[in-house]
This record gives sequence, C-alpha cells and structure tokens, in this order.
Amino acid sequence: MGDDCLLIDAKGKYYLIRLTEGGNFHSHLGRLPHVDIIGIQEGSSVVSEKGSRLVVLRPRFFDYILKMKRGAQVVYPKDIGPILVYADIAPGSLVLEAGTGSGALTMALVRGVGPDGRVVSVERRSDHAEHAHQAIERYFGTIPSNLELRVGNVEEMVAGVQPDRIVLDLPQPWDIVEAAVDSLQGGGVFCSYVPTVPQMQQTVETLQASGAFIELMSFETFLRTWNVEGRSVRPDHRMVGHTGFITVARKILPA
Ligand SMILES: C[S@@+](CC[C@H](N)C(=O)[O-])C[C@H]1O[C@@H](n2cnc3c(N)ncnc32)[C@H](O)[C@@H]1O
Repeated sequence: MGDDCLLIDAKGKYYLIRLTEGGNFHSHLGRLPHVDIIGIQEGSSVVSEKGSRLVVLRPRFFDYILKMKRGAQVVYPKDIGPILVYADIAPGSLVLEAGTGSGALTMALVRGVGPDGRVVSVERRSDHAEHAHQAIERYFGTIPSNLELRVGNVEEMVAGVQPDRIVLDLPQPWDIVEAAVDSLQGGGVFCSYVPTVPQMQQTVETLQASGAFIELMSFETFLRTWNVEGRSVRPDHRMVGHTGFITVARKILPA
C-alpha cells in the first residue's frame, strides 16, 4: 500500500498507479479495485470489472520517468544511460547537477552515486523544483539523504560544492564553464546535454577556449526498437528522431 504499481493490458498499454486503501483504477477496461492488487505477487494478473486481464508489476525506473508527472522535459532513458557512463557517475561521486527540471536525471544520478556519494541538484524555477521534489519523494519514498535540492542559479553554487562531476541539462552550459574551471577537481568530468547544434558548439568552443579541459567528446544517441513477430522481423516504423547532444570533457590542472 502506498506503492506505485504498473498495470499492463493485453495490448501492451501500461498504466502507472499509486495503490491506496479503498482506491479504484478506472479506465475503458472498467473499474479495478486496488484491494484486488494489494498484497498479490509481482507478475500476477488481475481481472477488471469488464473482464480484461492486467499484469501487475512494480515499475522499473524507466517506466517511472516516462509516466511520472512532469514540469520540464525529462532526459530520455536512452540518453540517461550514456550520461551516467560517459560522465563516469560511480558510487562515491560528488555530483553537481542543474537544472533539476522534473528530477528524472537527478534520480538516476542519486542511484549512481550510492549512499557514499552525494548529488547537489540546482533548479532556478521554484515551480520546477517543487515538481521535482514531489516526483523524487514519490519514487524513493523520501528525499534520499545523499541528495540536496537547491533553488537558485547554478552559476552561483559551483564554488561552494567543489564537485568531481558536473552534469548540466540547461540552455546555456557555457555560462557555467568558468565556474567549472575554478571548482571542478582535477580529472573531474564536465557533462552537458543540449537540444541544438549551436548550443553544443558554443559549449564545446567555451570548453576549448578555457584551456582547462581535455578529452572533449560530443555525441548523440539513437535507439531503434525492432518488431519481432513470426516472419516480420524488422525495425519498428517509428523512432525518436532527435533528443539532445551530450558533451563530456575532463578537467586538467594548470601546468
Ligand atoms: C530541460 S530541464 C531539465 C530536465 C531534467 N534534466 C530532467 O531530466 O527532468 C532544464 C531546467 O534547467 C533549469 N535552468 C535553466 N538555467 C538554469 C540555471 N542557470 N541554474 C539552474 N537551473 C537552470 C530550467 O528552469 C529547467 O527546469
């Protein structure tokens, strides 16, 4: 009870619901009382009032971030994986993130740094910060002790954190490069995620001009899912054509 639950119907459509005492799930499939779900084993099926069968699962992180309520556009799961790997988010990392947005990437960072690491996530819009707070609290059951959510401009907070990883999903990452040069530890990673080519270019050029970074790399990712049904084994007709460009760079110390 109080847990999130994923219901998947016969057509593969899925619904994220929060189980409550006395609650009901209503859809075109008819009513389904939460009491029919509470306490059953994950992977079991339940039947709605209109006789439709639904499989009951706990949501994966991936399911949660695609279905959760959002304030700002979230980073897509296909990009979260590479961000974690190329920014080298590992247990014990000290990460400064901005903007928090809806909190999707924040949650991935928190999972990545583990209990010995720390994430300081900064969001300048209080409405987005509030959305993120709710989404993160709902996902973890509480705001994790290794996460600090701050409201304000990240430019003003880099120095106070002295991170070993900076992860930015905001429109002007180049504005943070100077502060990153001053505060990022030697060998630390700067990582930005932007939707357009001019933003990526300005970020890279600012990193280059600082002379404080090596191993610059910019890339985008494509995820192409496949239909595998009998003889119809082919790429799906639809795919997400574009999300954003990831740029990573490593901080070096003056010679
Ligand atoms: C695209 S959203 C981030 C989404 C987030 N990565 C997620 O996965 O949910 C960008 C956010 O950056 C915030 N932002 C923009 N400039 C900022 C700054 N200088 N300092 C802090 N937050 C900033 C915006 O208000 C917005 O909420």
